[in-house]
Amino acid sequence: MIASQTATFPQGAVAVLTIDNPPVNGIGSGVRVALGKALEEAIANPMIKGIVLTGSGSFFSCGADIREFNTPKSRQEPSLRAIIEQLENSPKPTVAAIHGAALGGGLELALGCHYRIAQAKSSFGLPEVKLGILPGAGGTQRLPRLIGIGPALEMVAGGDSIDASKAQSLGLIERLVQTDLVPQACELALEASIRTEGLPRLSRAPIGATADSKVFDEARKLAGRRYRGCIAPLECIACVEKTLTSDLDEGLAFERERFQFLVNGDQSKAQRHLFFAERAAMKPPKVEAKLTPIRKVGVVGAGTMGTGIAMSIANAGISVVMIERDQAGLDHGWEVIKGNYASSVSRGKLSDSDVKARLALISRSLDYAALADVDLVIEAAFEDMGVKKEIFSRLDAVCKPDTILASNTSRLDINDLAASTSRPSKVIGTHFFSPANVMRLLEVVQGTRTATDVIGSLFAFARKLGKIPVLVGVCDGFVGNRMVSPYTREAHFLLEEGATPEQVDSALRRFGMAMGPLQMGDMAGLDISWAARKRMAPTRPAHIRYSKVADTICELGRLGQKTGAGFYRYESGSRTPISDPAIDVLIAECAREAGVERREITDVEIIQRTMYALVNEGARILQEGIAQRASDIDVIYVAGYGFPAFRGGPMFYADTVGLPEVLATIERFHDRHGELWAPAPLLKELVENGRSFADL
Ligand code: 3HC
Repeated sequence: MIASQTATFPQGAVAVLTIDNPPVNGIGSGVRVALGKALEEAIANPMIKGIVLTGSGSFFSCGADIREFNTPKSRQEPSLRAIIEQLENSPKPTVAAIHGAALGGGLELALGCHYRIAQAKSSFGLPEVKLGILPGAGGTQRLPRLIGIGPALEMVAGGDSIDASKAQSLGLIERLVQTDLVPQACELALEASIRTEGLPRLSRAPIGATADSKVFDEARKLAGRRYRGCIAPLECIACVEKTLTSDLDEGLAFERERFQFLVNGDQSKAQRHLFFAERAAMKPPKVEAKLTPIRKVGVVGAGTMGTGIAMSIANAGISVVMIERDQAGLDHGWEVIKGNYASSVSRGKLSDSDVKARLALISRSLDYAALADVDLVIEAAFEDMGVKKEIFSRLDAVCKPDTILASNTSRLDINDLAASTSRPSKVIGTHFFSPANVMRLLEVVQGTRTATDVIGSLFAFARKLGKIPVLVGVCDGFVGNRMVSPYTREAHFLLEEGATPEQVDSALRRFGMAMGPLQMGDMAGLDISWAARKRMAPTRPAHIRYSKVADTICELGRLGQKTGAGFYRYESGSRTPISDPAIDVLIAECAREAGVERREITDVEIIQRTMYALVNEGARILQEGIAQRASDIDVIYVAGYGFPAFRGGPMFYADTVGLPEVLATIERFHDRHGELWAPAPLLKELVENGRSFADL
């Protein structure tokens, strides 16, 4: 785990200690034991003049081994803090030679060294806040002493990495090198070994200019916006603030205590669950056949989804041909794309030359013949099976035999669509989320005849686009939208039973949702789910409760934000929902017609009715094999539906509450509200066997 070598130079010998723990050189208990021992030996060896710490493979070190948290291994001596002290207190110069990335505990190790030297393409970060914790091995105390309070606060509480040139300008690294990283680090160690002044130790460094308390207030405000509902950023800020009033030992003790508090809490467990859940979801299936390299893509439809999809493809440096039925539609889509890029330039996110390069990758045509040489087509046309089938048969005729044909449908049957072509094994669903150039989630819908190499090719393509692909099966709404149906259904029932739209939405926002379901409906456009309800109407048994609230709102032409009114009203050009007494009257009228007695609704009931509706449907989806893992559902909900990351997704949340309690409440709802609340068999099975979704 630690390779220890002696590098000999005319001026003397240097111990080169290499962390070798693939894939990311995580610092688990094994690495700590080996590193502690190697350091002890190097310090004791009279032949050794200096010590260089580096990493093998692609990274210096990406931090503590997260899998060991909350296990006995995390308590095994020596601790990471003890190793960092050992490095810092070493009488011989210690130099961190950094390539790739130094993250979390990896960067904290480097901060324990007397000097840091890095390769030009390296990056540096303390991403712990994204895992619901804080840098717990001195990072919150040493970094401000090295680069100052403001920049340290940004790195600790924001969690984003910086590149090597920024690190050098902040004084985080002493030297930037293009080549010969380790030999140059050895040279630095030898130079330092003959200097007469003492070695630079961050524990003894004074804290720079006293920070204005406004810096911390600003950081708290920023954290509130970026990490809504999360406690870790506030603890990160408190630790950095502590450097102003405490010496290093006091600061480290405070940091340690707050780290323990966070690492044992539910928020961090949820965020760590998501870290691994995302990685599990993104693993493509095992594929024997060769993958199709996707170098050129066609997008059919230049509406909201089509333009967003075309942009995300161009953003990844891949050529894209956009097809529309008429020139006006194509021109409108092109203007939308140019407008979106112009706004990125005005916000400083892209340069003019970036935009020029991306626009050059997007060509436009009214002729399907322009798709003759593409490797993949994504159809993003009107959500109607007839329309889509017609498009697919034209694609089937013009595209190369091995072109993959994908549909961006959010609900329709991929198998039906595949059957209308001569290449069902090459037909797949790619459900992007709006805005498609921003949202990272991609539901990859596998039809019964979709070939595994087509899925593998799509996964590789999605990763190039920076998306999180999650494999799902065919059913109405796939995973995400299928679960949204009972969730919004309960929101509408709650309105009839006595809640107001603001009460439902604000209770769910307090729970942590980015938006309540009614505001979300207004934003997405109420006509989409209205069309789906109309399509499903013939299959809906008459005796099953059905709320007419949303349909009645749509019949008034109130289709959400785009028409200036939906569940709320909107002033022209504004997206801020305003309560509308006319809607309260409409809801009361619907309730009266449906014979629903109105009553006081509590926030607890709002949360349980909506969340447990998600969980119950999620359990059915799992049992039917539409989702591969409970954690895939969590990824979909957090990445695509504004579910709070600090609750880990709906299925993790259910485990946190405890499945026996969730089931008991669902059974109570079943008794009170009828068969829509029949508990999912899988949920009952798990409770009977004392298991949880995490055990699946
Ligand atoms: N601990 C344990 N496993 C880790 C890990 C870590 N810190 N970082 C990555 N891994 C695992 C992943 O789960 C994945 O495992 P798998 O192959 O079994 O799925 C494998 O390493 C490769 O990871 P990625 O698929 O994410 O590889 P990428 O190359 O895309 O990304 C990365 C590499 C940027 C390092 C990314 O993995 C990452 O961001 N890791 C987390 C870094 C982090 O948060 N560090 C702080 C840890 S907490 C800490 O240090 C506490 C300290 O302050 C006390």
